[in-house]
Amino acid sequence: MTDDEIAELDDWAAQEGWNPGQGDLGVARASDPEAFVAIHQGNRLVGGGSIMSYGGKFGFMGLFILRPDMRGRGLGGQFWRWRLERLRARLDADAAIGMDGVYDMTPFYERGGFVAAHRHLRLQGVARGRADAAVLSDKGRVIDDILAFDTGRFPAPRDNFLRHWLDRPGLHVAALYRGDAFAGYGVARPARNGFKIGPLFARDVVTADRLLGDLLSRIDGRQVQIDIPEINGAARALASKYGLEEVFGCVRLYHGERPKIFIEDVYAVTSLEFG
Ligand SMILES: CC(C)(COP(=O)(O)OP(=O)(O)OC[C@H]1O[C@@H](n2cnc3c(N)ncnc32)[C@H](O)[C@@H]1OP(=O)(O)O)[C@@H](O)C(=O)NCCC(=O)NCCS
Repeated sequence: MTDDEIAELDDWAAQEGWNPGQGDLGVARASDPEAFVAIHQGNRLVGGGSIMSYGGKFGFMGLFILRPDMRGRGLGGQFWRWRLERLRARLDADAAIGMDGVYDMTPFYERGGFVAAHRHLRLQGVARGRADAAVLSDKGRVIDDILAFDTGRFPAPRDNFLRHWLDRPGLHVAALYRGDAFAGYGVARPARNGFKIGPLFARDVVTADRLLGDLLSRIDGRQVQIDIPEINGAARALASKYGLEEVFGCVRLYHGERPKIFIEDVYAVTSLEFG
């Protein structure tokens, strides 16, 4: 896909109510130039989707959208199967593929070989937080510890991706050490509407609370969304404590072996849209 087509897909995602972060798709493309694929009719875009490869170790399928007038005729299904094969050809043989499916479509993805793992919930509200003097906001000082801490909390190493993710205008980074040990980090980024939190990874709920409170204080009064794994009950309780309420949900599915990560440390995922 060209940059213009990716921008069009971004608009389509907004029309579906998905609210991707500003610049998210550019970051995805910068870290995997082959991540976006399309169907064309002549030179017009008919459908698009992401097929992200994280260094061949983990794949993700997202942003699966057809132009509304082209839906319901079998084209989407054909495109989806083609994307799956194309992504598999770009991954190591034993690499898993993840995706977040809307509830109605889950049976289709299961017929395609994916297995449901758990739900992701989107919670939304108005940012009200409390600044924490111990939280660090200068990413240059903490980037190496962020990259190290991310390992095991996402299914594959993603240093290249994270460096791009953190290098954007308007972004807020929060990191916290407890004693000498790095205890967690979080990010707030501008989206089409308001801000989104993600990722927010912390070794315990007290750290997650301090990071989230500090991030929310920096975007005080703005709409904020956070996407959490439902199976981490502490993440949901924390988001509720800050007055955020469920507005959307989807099912995380995997093709291949379900990745083993410290899901109890995941208080916000990075992106439901493209992976
Ligand atoms: C999802 C989408 C890309 C599918 O494209 P499409 O051309 O309409 O799909 P097809 O006609 O080829 O149908 C593909 C399969 O999806 C199923 N499907 C499509 N829309 C569905 C819906 N709203 N609810 C349940 N199943 C649906 C079909 O039954 C079909 O399954 P089958 O091949 O096993 O019979 C298109 O509907 C779309 O852009 N939707 C809005 C964005 C969206 O929701 N994307 C999915 C996010 S997970």
